[in-house]
Amino acid sequence: MNLEQVTNTYDTYAQKIGDRKRMYETIASTFNVKRALYPGSHVDIAPSLVIPHVIYVDSFKGTIRFFKHLETVQELIDQRKEYDEPCIIEFFGQDYTQPLDIGPVDLIISQYAGFVGQATKQYLKPGGILLCNDSHGDATLAQVDETFELIGVMSSTNEINQTGLDEYFRLPKGKDVDTTEVKKSMKGPKYTKQGENYVFRKRI
Ligand SMILES: C[S@@+](CC[C@H](N)C(=O)[O-])C[C@H]1O[C@@H](n2cnc3c(N)ncnc32)[C@H](O)[C@@H]1O
Repeated sequence: MNLEQVTNTYDTYAQKIGDRKRMYETIASTFNVKRALYPGSHVDIAPSLVIPHVIYVDSFKGTIRFFKHLETVQELIDQRKEYDEPCIIEFFGQDYTQPLDIGPVDLIISQYAGFVGQATKQYLKPGGILLCNDSHGDATLAQVDETFELIGVMSSTNEINQTGLDEYFRLPKGKDVDTTEVKKSMKGPKYTKQGENYVFRKRI
């Protein structure tokens, strides 16, 4: 893959999923994120446009093919990055539930890729941030996990809403969340009030 092909692959994917750069930027600037882990990233390299060091993990053949051209991916990021530091990207073409030889990170990104927060929370430094949605129930599992504290919900304009957080993760009629069912179905429950993305802090 040359630079044009890498660029086309990323741009086509970014168009499909919608631009998340501003969301990542808000998280990075609010929490001074310099090093992030993105398990189940596919080719969503938008975090590298705003975070200097990002570690991507994905076991999908197509993703491995994309990141095989790491220097070309880096070239694309160098053209578009919004920080002064050099960009560092690492890629592990493996199952993220298997051990990763990496140091602690400031942020874990979990987007539509299973129970990322649960499988990789040991790599998050104390006080670090888990940004996740509940598409597969990862936010629900973080919410019931003592390791994490819900500290914000991303608004549609990519601001971090930090008030009224106890209104989230409530089921109609006060029913309890069945986490066994969430793990089995890999689907977040329908809550009375939901956010697109949730911000958790790893307790110290
Ligand atoms: C639906 S895509 C989402 C990609 C990206 N996070 C996004 O939001 O656009 C899910 C990705 O997670 C990867 N994935 C799912 N489970 C995985 C696992 N256990 N280990 C590594 N990659 C995984 C898949 O290969 C796929 O590329």
